[in-house]
This record gives sequence, structure tokens and C-alpha cells, in this order.
Amino acid sequence: MSAARDKWNARYQSKGAQPPSAPSFLQKHIDSLKPGSVLDIAAGDGAASLLLAREGFAVIALDISENGLERLAAFAKEQGNQVATQVCDLEQPGALGGLGQFDNAVITLYKPVPELWQELVEHVVPGGRVLLTTFNVEHHVQTGFSRRFCLEPGELEAVHPGLELIEYSSTASGGNWMDHYLFRRL
Ligand SMILES: C[S@@+](CC[C@H](N)C(=O)[O-])C[C@H]1O[C@@H](n2cnc3c(N)ncnc32)[C@H](O)[C@@H]1O
Repeated sequence: MSAARDKWNARYQSKGAQPPSAPSFLQKHIDSLKPGSVLDIAAGDGAASLLLAREGFAVIALDISENGLERLAAFAKEQGNQVATQVCDLEQPGALGGLGQFDNAVITLYKPVPELWQELVEHVVPGGRVLLTTFNVEHHVQTGFSRRFCLEPGELEAVHPGLELIEYSSTASGGNWMDHYLFRRL
């Protein structure tokens, strides 16, 4: 836990005062989410959470980096919103233990370990949505970014029998090669 935590805490500590902006796939599909609550997985300093809170969702943001979550909470406050935050290691079994069910789960720029998918699906209500947007393997090829954090083509299409795929697409824009998934919870 501490290597990832230390790395990300250092990154967030050295970031400027500007809040992050939401990934375009989330912006484009925000109306496809189920109104209500969102679990933001590996939320960082709030790229997804801040937009979701502005749009009226009740957001709980999870991350291993307390510095990231502190930034997130401060940005949300500046913007007149509130986002609940919880420090946790999403690679540990039972990471979501104690959390209830949510209308949606959102994952931006993070690749969950397979075990987390099994747990995550149980925390989304039937008819809810799971949205993921992150780097694909072409990003690794083009930039050298670690392949471990990149998605193979179609890797998540059948990630869990409780998730029905609504949309899968890939984009290449601004030096980022990304895959995007939108699921409905069955
Ligand atoms: C590229 S950032 C993405 C942050 C945010 N979702 C966004 O779109 O800007 C990856 C995030 O994953 C978090 N992270 C890395 N390993 C983690 C772990 N094992 N458990 C929880 N969070 C983790 C980092 O702290 C970091 O905030």
C-alpha cells in the first residue's frame, strides 16, 4: 500500500492550485448516469467527483492518497459543494466493505484489479450504471506508460455477468489513447 500511497501523495502535493477537469467521456455521458449517488473509484483530486457534485450527484470518493482527497474536498468546498471522501487501498480484499449501494460507479484513469470488479458490482443497484474511461494498450505503445495500467482491446467487455455493456469505444486525442466503457447493472 505505502509505495502507491507515497507516490501519489507526492504527486498531489506538487500539483498547482487548479482543480482537475473531467475526462471528456464522462462529460459526454453524464446524462446516461442514473440520478442519485456515485461511488468514484480512485478519485484522486476530483476530476470526476467535482463535475458529478456540480451536477447534483451525491458522491463518495475513494483513493489511497489522502493528499489527493484533501485537494478534492477543498476544491469541492470552493465550488460550493460537498464530496464525502474515504482513504482506502483498492487492491486489498474487502476494500469496499462497509459501503452501501450506489446508483452509479465511475472510474477515470484507473484500472481496477479483477477482484475489485467482483466487489464493485455488488455495490451498484440494479439498473445503475458503471462508467470507466482509462488508457489502453496503444497508450503504452505510443508513450511507454506502464502496460500494467493499460487496457487490452475489449478487455472489459465481459468483465462481470452482472454488467450489461451499453457502449465500448476507443479514442486517440491530445496524446492520450483511451478506452471507454458504459455498463448497466443487471
Ligand atoms: C491517474 S490518477 C486518476 C485520478 C482521477 N480518477 C482522475 O481521473 O484524475 C490514479 C489514482 O489512483 C489512485 N490509486 C493508485 N493505486 C491505488 C490503490 N491501490 N488504491 C486506491 N487508489 C489508488 C492514486 O492515488 C490516484 O489518485
